[in-house]
Amino acid sequence: MTLTATATAYRLQGVTRTYRQRERTVQALAGIDLEIDAGDFVTIQGPTGGGKSTLLQMLGALDRPSNGSVMLGDVDIAQASNAQLSRLRAEEIGFVFQGFNLIPTLTAAENVDMGLEPLKLDRPERLRRIADALTRVGLADRHDHRPGELSGGQQQRVAIARAIAKQPRVLLADEPTGNLDESMRDEILDVLETLNLEGLTLVVVTHDSAVARRARRRLRLAGGRVSDITRG
Ligand SMILES: Nc1ncnc2c1ncn2[C@@H]1O[C@H](COP(=O)(O)OP(=O)(O)OP(=O)(O)O)[C@@H](O)[C@H]1O
Ligand SMILES: [Mg+2]
Repeated sequence: MTLTATATAYRLQGVTRTYRQRERTVQALAGIDLEIDAGDFVTIQGPTGGGKSTLLQMLGALDRPSNGSVMLGDVDIAQASNAQLSRLRAEEIGFVFQGFNLIPTLTAAENVDMGLEPLKLDRPERLRRIADALTRVGLADRHDHRPGELSGGQQQRVAIARAIAKQPRVLLADEPTGNLDESMRDEILDVLETLNLEGLTLVVVTHDSAVARRARRRLRLAGGRVSDITRG
């Protein structure tokens, strides 16, 4: 028997997030303890208002917890400086949103290039990364198309290319197929699955059980608490 050590992508301990609005406080995350293995494909389901986007913002270094720690590798997102968090977002974390968030006046290649902007790479390396990312999402022949000249599924693939061009450690997605019909959804799932098989850690928030069925690990977040429903 061989023992294989699994690297951990994220380790969360005692994570809470409380939003204060005038007299009202909302506890969006109520004490999350969670480890996510490097190379895993995790989905997060749960009722609206359950805390899914709040948790994804923590994982994405877009927000800090009210209490607890969020370790990405050896960096604690709760304690890191703003400069460290921007560097993490620029270099280590890819983000994909439901609404694609592409710039309509730029071509697919130029949109992907936007994700590389903070890395200050030289031009040949940028061009190499853009071509590689668009090829990996199956859009090698669409470099010069603007978002309006692409299908919804293709637009989301450009957004994924933009997120992976930086060669991030993790890819986070909030309802990446929420605006797509079933065939485009399956197209995006195929792309995500391939990236995961190549070693990319995926955390995907979804309302869609068809998406969750493709994951290796399924989590549910309700009332700010997480449970593992992989075998449920
Ligand atoms: N910026 C904010 N200010 C105040 N309350 C907030 C803020 N963001 C989220 N909340 C509250 O925190 C709770 C969790 O919200 P969150 O957006 O994480 O839910 P969600 O699981 O992503 O829901 P959905 O499935 O509808 O996207 C909700 O009660 C929400 O109203
Ligand atoms: Mg949400």
